[in-house]
Amino acid sequence: MRISKEIIEHVRERARIEDIAQKYVPSLKKRGRNYVGLCPFHKEKTPSFSVSPEKQIFYCFGCHSGGNVFTFLSKIENIPFHESVKRAADICGVHIEFDTDKTSGSVETIRRLNQYAMNYYCNYFYSSEGRAGREYIFNRGVNEESAKKFKIGMSPDSWDKLASALVKNRTDMDVAEKAGLVGKSKTGNYIDKFRNRLMFPIFDRTGNVVAFGGRSVNSEQQPKYLNSPESEVFQKRNVLYGLNFAMDEIRQMDRAIVVEGYLDVIGCHQYGIKNVVAPLGTALTENHIRQLSRLCNEIIMLFDSDSAGVNASLRSIEISESFNVDIRVAALPDKDPFDFVMNHDVRELMIHIDKALKPADFRIINTIEANRGKNPVSILKILFGIIENIELLSERDIYLKKVSELLKLDENSVRGDFSTYLKTRNVVDRTGTPGVVYLDYETKIFRDLITLVLKYPEIAGDVIIDFSGESIDDQVAAEIFGVICRLYQDENELKIHKIFDFFPDGLEMDFLNSAIQNETSIEDPKAAYTEIYVNLKLHKINKKITDYAEKIKASGSDRLEYLAELEILRREKEKLTSYMYNRGSVRRDG
Ligand code: CTP
Ligand code: MN
Repeated sequence: MRISKEIIEHVRERARIEDIAQKYVPSLKKRGRNYVGLCPFHKEKTPSFSVSPEKQIFYCFGCHSGGNVFTFLSKIENIPFHESVKRAADICGVHIEFDTDKTSGSVETIRRLNQYAMNYYCNYFYSSEGRAGREYIFNRGVNEESAKKFKIGMSPDSWDKLASALVKNRTDMDVAEKAGLVGKSKTGNYIDKFRNRLMFPIFDRTGNVVAFGGRSVNSEQQPKYLNSPESEVFQKRNVLYGLNFAMDEIRQMDRAIVVEGYLDVIGCHQYGIKNVVAPLGTALTENHIRQLSRLCNEIIMLFDSDSAGVNASLRSIEISESFNVDIRVAALPDKDPFDFVMNHDVRELMIHIDKALKPADFRIINTIEANRGKNPVSILKILFGIIENIELLSERDIYLKKVSELLKLDENSVRGDFSTYLKTRNVVDRTGTPGVVYLDYETKIFRDLITLVLKYPEIAGDVIIDFSGESIDDQVAAEIFGVICRLYQDENELKIHKIFDFFPDGLEMDFLNSAIQNETSIEDPKAAYTEIYVNLKLHKINKKITDYAEKIKASGSDRLEYLAELEILRREKEKLTSYMYNRGSVRRDG
């Protein structure tokens, strides 16, 4: 779907963020210039979500999410940017004609076809021909209510039943192929992709069917699962199976439980554990963790206790480290969570969940397990690598004790060895604030510059003239500056909230939010800018001077030329320094 710029602006003018947020955040109340309420993106008891009608942005001081009206909608509904424009238009009753192109047409069609196929598979499942599927599912312990809730279906044991039904409905078969429902045979006929399989519709978090997982009902039929291909509406890395059903519970419990398979999700929900989701046959991706971390503060991995499950858990722990969420791993004695609830009971499963291991414990236990039989001292070295990553010294202390007990080594010697290990590894003290990124000077100053522009858009014009030729190494600052230039060129003024259109997510969004929320007020933005400008130029000149000085040291013949350059640079530097003292307007032609 392409939406023209005019339409976006038309919608933006009418979509007041305070009105739209109100629909999702009933607690939102006017307080001074802003509106304040309970954040819809994370769980909290005291309001830290604020909306500024004046700036047309929102920001949460708790979870640090923020953006403009479109960002808000795409986050809360988990929809892409262009969809959020449509949604905003819907909400404020703006009628718009979208200039649909071929791809956007196909998104709508894929959605419709998936819905159609889901109903088709369900009907088949409950028909007399679907009996084998029903028996399989109910033998596995899934009850009728769950089968209905998760819309389990069955694909016919035929080459083209669905395909002919689609053709009869005058479906665009190219799109049906893209959706992965049909394929082309050698003779050019359309044939069903899913044949004689149990069908699990995969929903996005608003409940649209975006794909299918088709499970074989007998061991001869391979592969065990056939999944829809990725398409415009389905990317594995973004979708969590069951999230549409689990979202509210995850918020309420402040905890998400992640299992491995479709059947585990269904089983857990059936037994009343409803904060359960599953990735689609992979470890959790960054995207999954980001989504979950907005709903709750704790993720419990409840993977199958085989090596694939252990590896997926280790990988998920690693990925989750850069997110503000606690992750723990629950180990089950039985094959998988569904088997476990059926063989034991829910209470016992909950006990295992509560006993879930912290990342360090899980890593340590698995390292010892994987190196069983080896010399304890050689294992110890690997474990030090894990312990060194623990932030708090007091916690490290606990682990040193644990490790010595596990390996049956003398605790004091282990402590001694750990200190030596740290020294020889020349490890910097990691007890500093976690998550703080240390930036090099140039990056920092460019970011200060962007921050200043974001807070005082009136200086944008000057900054763009001064810096549009400049190369900016820092990706984040460069990207944002690029957008600032574009927006300014279009309108001759800068509306900050529009920048969020370009960065609904990622480092740039994080930076935008922290820059805009930055409270330090500056008396004279122009003077502050001059200072940054001069500092940057000085920094670059100094860099060049060092560069030339090096070259002069190294070379013989071109010496004179370098010396001349050096002289020019020194003069420039002097000029800049005197500007600095006079704090006058900097002339930018030299
Ligand atoms: N999976 C897959 N393709 C396969 C095998 C597995 O996509 N060939 C994914 C599916 O999402 C599946 C998950 O990995 O749900 C877990 O696999 P598994 O435990 O084998 O399947 P379950 O759904 O748990 O089914 P069952 O308990 O009947 O084995
Ligand atoms: Mn399983």
